[in-house]
Amino acid sequence: MIRCNRSTFKFICVVTVFYFIFYLILSRDTPTNSRVIHLKKGATRKKTEKKIFQPRSFSQIDINCYCKSPKTGEVYNFCYVDPQNSTNIGKKFNCSFVETMEDLKMLNNPGPFPLITDFYKNQNDIVFVSTTSDDHYSEHAKSFEILRSYYPAHKYILYGLKMTQFYIDMLPKNDTNFEFRPFNTSRYPKYVETWMNYRFKPILMAEILREHENVWWIDAHVKAKRPEFLKTFFEEVNLKRSSEDFSPVTSLLDTGHSNFATLRQGLLDYLPTNSIQLLKESYQVAAGLLHIPRTAKTISIFKWYVLCALEEKCMNPPGVGGVYCQFGPNRMDYYANCFRYDQSVLNLLLLNEYQDYNKYFTLLNRTFTN
Ligand SMILES: *[C@@H]1O[C@H](CO)[C@@H](O)[C@H](O)[C@H]1NC(C)=O
Ligand SMILES: *[C@@H]1O[C@H](CO)[C@@H](O)[C@H](O)[C@H]1NC(C)=O
Ligand SMILES: *[C@@H]1O[C@H](CO)[C@@H](O)[C@H](O)[C@H]1NC(C)=O
Ligand SMILES: *[C@@H]1O[C@H](CO)[C@@H](O)[C@H](O)[C@H]1NC(C)=O
Ligand SMILES: *[C@@H]1O[C@H](CO)[C@@H](O)[C@H](O)[C@H]1NC(C)=O
Repeated sequence: MIRCNRSTFKFICVVTVFYFIFYLILSRDTPTNSRVIHLKKGATRKKTEKKIFQPRSFSQIDINCYCKSPKTGEVYNFCYVDPQNSTNIGKKFNCSFVETMEDLKMLNNPGPFPLITDFYKNQNDIVFVSTTSDDHYSEHAKSFEILRSYYPAHKYILYGLKMTQFYIDMLPKNDTNFEFRPFNTSRYPKYVETWMNYRFKPILMAEILREHENVWWIDAHVKAKRPEFLKTFFEEVNLKRSSEDFSPVTSLLDTGHSNFATLRQGLLDYLPTNSIQLLKESYQVAAGLLHIPRTAKTISIFKWYVLCALEEKCMNPPGVGGVYCQFGPNRMDYYANCFRYDQSVLNLLLLNEYQDYNKYFTLLNRTFTN
């Protein structure tokens, strides 16, 4: 037992005990600290991962970065740390989002998380998710019709962004595997309803991941050109992309421009990067078609994606340019006076983590089109 009797040692002793207590609290923050392996008979077993001791997570992140939940008492780190450089730390996200993030299961999510290989076994596990507003309804209807011709019985959930009854009445009625849900924005900041900031996408992805673990996100305007794409995708992942070097989140559509071209630099205040040069050299991938398996890694990346969507100046950082780009002499090295909101943010997080866009992107023989 530790005793603090001698006055000469008292100070050091107290500091050590405090350090230890804080370490115990803080080290419980991320879901990556432990992984729950799903066993066949429904039992779960906790398995400790390699990185048991992470003094860095305490010593280098400012204590001011932590937010305490008024509801659960849990403490979480709200400053993003560049995965490539632990002293490159972003501006703190507002602690007022702690409870929303807890509700979304984006913090302190203990799983259970299936093995990554389990996500590429059974095509029927896939849940298609999309969202539309009135003005995108015809795009969505076409996309849905094509998808249904290939996958007539998969679960398909459509979130409506303040859709009017006229359009709701046009939704499929005899399709028992189709589900419509109005996006309930009441628990989010008012600016989430500024649809052109695309905050709804990370938030809806978080909502759906709370419920389903094998999600296929498809934007209203994205169309499949070939049948059997789930089979093709699963085969490709099982053959070439199953190692831990690859991101669990995969995009299947390209953009033809770099990350730098569509980056308002203010975003880097919250989500700093290790290399502007890499942002210029790396293609941005589309966020309009994503396979999102719910793994510990996915949650640890989406924590920042969703926080950014909730924080006013992260998803819409100061700077010039909306969604429409004016490209310079090439589409890689010059800022094109535009910002791609959810897509710019997700790409930044994935590139920071994996340093190579092929780790989170496959074109799948150009199966999809905008
Ligand atoms: C890591 O980040 C810090 C803070 O931004 C920076 O000063 C330092 O140069 C970076 N180190 C490397 C190796 O990039
Ligand atoms: C955090 O959010 C609260 C509630 O919306 C707001 O009153 C406060 O000013 C915000 N703090 C910062 C530092 O932005
Ligand atoms: C839906 O199903 C009902 C009863 O099965 C049928 O009468 C109706 O015509 C169907 N509607 C459409 C649009 O297919
Ligand atoms: C929206 O969510 C709020 C808060 O969770 C809830 O009170 C309200 O009933 C919901 N509205 C609808 C239309 O479901
Ligand atoms: C890729 O798509 C083209 C048609 O666009 C088709 O001819 C070709 O067979 C496909 N390749 C593979 C490997 O599926």
